[in-house]
Amino acid sequence: MALAPVQTARQLPRWSELRDVVQFKKPWLSRLERANSVRDLRDLARRTTPRAVFDYVDGAAEEEITAARNVAAYRRVTFLSETLRSVADPDPSVPLLGRRIAMPLMFAPTGYTRMMHHHGEAAVAEVAQHVGVPYALSTVGSTSIEDVRAASPDGDLWFQLYLTPDPKVNEDLLSRAEAAGYTTILLTVDTTVSGMRLRDVVNGLTIPPTLTARTVLNMSRFPRWWFNKLTTGGMTFASLAGVPGKPSPAEVASMMFDPGLDLQALDRLRVRWRGNLVVKGVTTPASAREALERGADGVVVSNHGGRQLDRSPATLDVLPAIRAELGPAATVLIDGGVLHGQDILAARALGADAVMIGRAYLYGLMAGGRDGVLRTVELLAGEYQRSMQLLGVRRSEDLSGRHVAFHPSLSDLGSHDGQYPLSGGFLPDQVPARTRGAGDAGAAGELP
Ligand code: FNR
Repeated sequence: MALAPVQTARQLPRWSELRDVVQFKKPWLSRLERANSVRDLRDLARRTTPRAVFDYVDGAAEEEITAARNVAAYRRVTFLSETLRSVADPDPSVPLLGRRIAMPLMFAPTGYTRMMHHHGEAAVAEVAQHVGVPYALSTVGSTSIEDVRAASPDGDLWFQLYLTPDPKVNEDLLSRAEAAGYTTILLTVDTTVSGMRLRDVVNGLTIPPTLTARTVLNMSRFPRWWFNKLTTGGMTFASLAGVPGKPSPAEVASMMFDPGLDLQALDRLRVRWRGNLVVKGVTTPASAREALERGADGVVVSNHGGRQLDRSPATLDVLPAIRAELGPAATVLIDGGVLHGQDILAARALGADAVMIGRAYLYGLMAGGRDGVLRTVELLAGEYQRSMQLLGVRRSEDLSGRHVAFHPSLSDLGSHDGQYPLSGGFLPDQVPARTRGAGDAGAAGELP
C-alpha cells in the first residue's frame, strides 16, 4: 500500500537561526593554532623548511625500517578502559629522578637545532621550563651549555654526553654542565660509529656540506629561512668551541663517534659525575641491566629514533621485557616514534616512567619556532589527558599493564644468547660500490 507524499512545512530562510548553531572558524587563527596534531605540524614543517633540513630531521638510517617500526608499534596497542571511576581533577604529573614533572614527557637531545629554526635549543629549553618538564641539551647542540641555562634559568636541564676519545674535552663539558647546574648526564651509547642516513647523503647534508644543485635550488625557495639563518650567527657546535687545536667541524663531528666506548668508560664517568647518570640507547634487557649494575641511575630504551642501527627492534616492543628485567624501582625512559599523546599513555602503561620526544618537537620548531614547540606540547598534553580520563584513570601514576593489550613482536628477546646463525649474510665486499662510497663519506662526515 503506497504512502501519501511527505508534507514538509516550510518558512522563509532565517539566517539568525543558523548563526545560533554554526560557529564559523575564526579567520585569524594562526597556522599553528589550526594544526590539530603533531602530524599536521609535520606537514607544516615540510612546507616551511628546506627539503634537506626537513629530511635531516625526518630521515633515519639505511632503509628506515626501525624508524617505521617505532611508530607502527604504538599502533598495535589496544586500550582497555575501566568504567565508573571518577576522573575529575586529573593529575598527569609523575616523579622522575627525585623531582616531579608535569607529565611523563621530556625533550630528547637533538644536535644542530638552530638549523631547523633560528630559535634553536634556547627556545626548546624555554618551553620545557614553562611547561615543567626536563630538556636535554646535545653535546653537538648549536647553542652552548651556558646559553641554554640562560634561556631556562630554573628549568631541569640534562646534558647529553658523547664521550670523546679525548679526556680533556669530556672533562671540559662535564665541569661546565656541573657549573651551570645541569642535574643529569645522559650518556648516549648507540653511536660507536655514525649511522648511515641516505637522505642526508643524497641531499649533500654532510660535514662539510656537499650540496647538490637540486638542494640549493630547493633551498632558494625558502627566503625567510635563509634570512633568519644569515642574520642570527653561524652554525657551530657551540659547546665544543674551545676544543684544543682548532679542529675542523668534520674532525669535531667524527670525535663524537667513539668505536672504543666500553663499560670501563661508563665506570670512569660514574666516578667523575655525582649527579644523575642515565644511559641512552639500550634495546635489550641484558644491556639495560649491565648499565644499572655499573651504577647508572636509569636507562633510556632508545634506538636513536632509528638513526643508527637499522633493523633494531621498535623500542616499545622491548620495553616490557626491559622493565621486567630491571624491576619496578628502576628509572626507565623510552623514545622513538612518539607522535601522539596516546603513545605516551601506552608507554607509561607498558612500563616507562616517561617518554622522550625528538622529531615531534622538531616538527613544531620547524613549523613555528618556539611557539611551534609549545603547540607540540599543548597537543600531546591534551591528547594524553583526554585519553587517560577516557581510560578511567585519574592519575598518571595509576596507569598500569591492565589498561593495555599489547603483544610485543619479539618473543625470544635475550633467550638466544647471541647465537643466531649467520645464514646468507651480506658481507662488506658485496656492498654495491655506490653505497660503499657513501658509507665512507658518512663515517667521516655525517652530522651526528
Ligand atoms: C637526534 N638524536 C640525538 N640523540 C643524541 O643522543 N644526541 C644527539 O645529538 C641527537 N641528535 C639528533 C638529531 C635529530 C635531528 C634527531 C631527530 C634525533 C636522537 C634523539 O635524542 C632521540 O633518541 C630520537 O629523536 C627519538 O626518536 P623520535 O622521537 O625522533 O622518533
